[in-house]
Amino acid sequence: MDSTAWHRAHRARRQLTGLLTRAVPVARARDGADFLSVMSRVAGDRLGTRQLVDHMIFTLIASHDTTTAATIAAVYFLGKHPEWQDRARAESAAGAAPDLAGLDRLNTLEMIIKESIRLVSPSPILLRRAVRDTEIEGHFIPAGQLVSVCTGVNQLLPELWPEPHRFDPERFSAARAEDRVHRLAWAPFGAGQHKCVGMRFGLLKVKTTLDAMLRRFDWTLPPSYEAPWRFTSLPAPADGLPLVMRPRRERRAGS
Ligand code: HEM
Repeated sequence: MDSTAWHRAHRARRQLTGLLTRAVPVARARDGADFLSVMSRVAGDRLGTRQLVDHMIFTLIASHDTTTAATIAAVYFLGKHPEWQDRARAESAAGAAPDLAGLDRLNTLEMIIKESIRLVSPSPILLRRAVRDTEIEGHFIPAGQLVSVCTGVNQLLPELWPEPHRFDPERFSAARAEDRVHRLAWAPFGAGQHKCVGMRFGLLKVKTTLDAMLRRFDWTLPPSYEAPWRFTSLPAPADGLPLVMRPRRERRAGS
């Protein structure tokens, strides 16, 4: 039977486990520069094959699925707000296909991405287990208790964000800096000890994809469309997102 997302996820995990279990001894034996070889070398004897495989699977998901969810959120809001799409496109068009420094200059796009993942956080809940009895704001939490930290909710609190449900990328401008009102107001990359190690790289990946899309395509959504977000895994529009993408006229004319 292959009917549920849960079943497909388990099958995919088994396949990845098999593939990586075969790859680890090969990676250990060579002096490669790929991620698995470097991890195997650095870990030495401290991590067994099973642990290396689990780390690799975690990193693939932590890196790929989050970046995809962030990109989808930004594509969605740019489809809903053509004025921001035009503004970001003008910024992209002002430079050549960007290198690292060029990506850093795309400030409008950066504000758009930050606002998109504030409203639709790729990883809106972080899970922790209390290692000892503790108390937070008068609530007793016994050792062993699982705790959900809902950063996605913080990002919509009216006491932290004016008009929290409005798409307003300027919140992240230097002049307003609404994300700075509290350390945990904006935490799509987590916070503290386990804050995302790929934050800058992830933002660059999303920027690179959106920059390329803006240069080549216009996209629109049906009027008044609101995505039915599904949170079974990372957020994704349950209807597949009815986006219409058109190649840019300038490109069709060959200019
Ligand atoms: C937009 C993209 C991304 C988002 C929204 C995101 C989000 C997050 C969040 C919320 C956490 C904290 C999890 C927790 O505290 O339980 C995290 C941790 C982590 N992320 Fe990302 N991430 C992104 C991209 C990436 C990329 C590109 C990589 C790797 C190249 C990566 C690797 C990791 C790793 C290894 C951790 C675990 C850190 C630790 O436990 O010390 N992430 N990420």
